[in-house]
Amino acid sequence: MSSALTELCRYPIVQAPMAGGASCPQLAAAVSEAGGLGFLAAGYKTADGMYQEIKQLRGFTARPFGVNLFMPQPQYADAAAVDVYRHQLAGEAAWYDTPLGDPEAGRDDGYEAKLAILRDDPVPLVSFTFGCPAKQTLDALKRAGTLTVVTVTTPDEAQAAQHAGADAVCVQGVEAGGHQGTHRDDPAAGSGTGLLTLIPQIRETVQLPVIAAGGIMRGSQIAAVLSAGAGSAQLGTAFLVCPESGANALHKQAMTNPVFNRTELTRAFSGRPARGLVNRFMREHGRYAPAAYPEVHHLTSGLRKAAAAAGDPQGMALWAGQGHRMARDLPAAQLVEVLAAELSAASAALALRSAS
Ligand SMILES: Cc1cc2nc3c(=O)[nH]c(=O)nc-3n(C[C@H](O)[C@H](O)[C@H](O)COP(=O)(O)O)c2cc1C
Repeated sequence: MSSALTELCRYPIVQAPMAGGASCPQLAAAVSEAGGLGFLAAGYKTADGMYQEIKQLRGFTARPFGVNLFMPQPQYADAAAVDVYRHQLAGEAAWYDTPLGDPEAGRDDGYEAKLAILRDDPVPLVSFTFGCPAKQTLDALKRAGTLTVVTVTTPDEAQAAQHAGADAVCVQGVEAGGHQGTHRDDPAAGSGTGLLTLIPQIRETVQLPVIAAGGIMRGSQIAAVLSAGAGSAQLGTAFLVCPESGANALHKQAMTNPVFNRTELTRAFSGRPARGLVNRFMREHGRYAPAAYPEVHHLTSGLRKAAAAAGDPQGMALWAGQGHRMARDLPAAQLVEVLAAELSAASAALALRSAS
C-alpha cells in the first residue's frame, strides 16, 4: 500500500462505508481510535446530513477517517419495465399499508453539494462507488490534501480509476455484502468475480494500491488478501453487528439467525445488484426486478421502512456478505484488536510454512 494510505492507520483494516445507518460516527470513531480506518457513508443522506456526521465524528476522534460518495447515475432504465415492477409491488404496498415511492425522486444523491463541502472542509480520504469521477474532481480533492479511492469490480474499471488519477482502488469481490460498486449495471455482464481471483488480475493491470473487500470476517482472510497483493482489507458485514453500528437491530440479529442461511445478489430492492440475506421479499421479487437504479430504490424505500417498523425482517433489505455467519458481536475496538491478532498469527504461520 502506498505510504500515504498506510500512514492513515496502524492496522491494514478499513471499516467499510455502509449507507443506511450502519457506519455512523460512533462506529467510525471506535474503529479509527483502535488503529483501523473508520468510514462514513454519505449515500442516501443530504449534503448537510453528511456534514453533520463529519463534524460529530471529529468531535469523537482526531484520528483519520474516510467519507464515501455515490456517483450520480445516468438515465438508462426502461420506464416501461419500472412501471411493470411498480404494478408487481402493489401487493406489498397493500400489505404494509404504505404507498410506493416516486421512482423519479432523484438520481444524483446530492453529489455536487457533497463534493463542494468536502473541497471546502477536506477530510483525509474520500471514496466513490457506482462509477468513476472525472479527473478534475479527483484533482480538486487531491489539491485539498484528500486521498481518493474508487471502488472497482473488474480490471477495466480499475484502468478507468487509474486514468482518472485515483490514489487507490477498492477492489470489491462478488462475495461482498451490499451493493456491487460496478460502474455501470449491465445485466448481460454475468455475476461478478471472487476477491482472490480479482486482486491479482487488477494488480497486473494497474499500478494503484489495492484495498480488498468482500467476505472478509477473520484476520486469516486479511493475511490472504495481503498475500494476494492488497495493501489493506475493507470489512463491512463484520462491523455491521458491532454494538456501535447504527444498523437496525433486526438486521444485526438476522446475520447469525439460522432462518437466514444464505445470501444472493438481487435487484429486488434497489434495481442494482446487491448482496443480502435471502428473505421473502427477495424470493418473491428478485427474479423479475429490472435493472433500474435508483428508480427501484425510490419505489421500495417506504416498503422497507414499513417492514422495519413492523418488526418484519422478511420485507427488509438485509444486506450481508457471504461470510455473515462468522459475524462476532464484539465492540468495534475489540474486533479491530482481534482481527489484528489473527492477522499477525496467520502471517507468522505463513512465514514458518514458506521457510520450511
Ligand atoms: C449494509 C451495507 C451497506 C453498504 N453500503 C455501502 C456504501 O454506502 N458505499 C460503499 O462503497 N459500499 C457499501 N457497502 C459495501 C462495502 O463497502 C464492502 O464492499 C462490503 O461490505 C464488503 O463485503 P463484506 O460485507 O462481506 O465485508 C455496503 C455493505 C453493507 C453490508
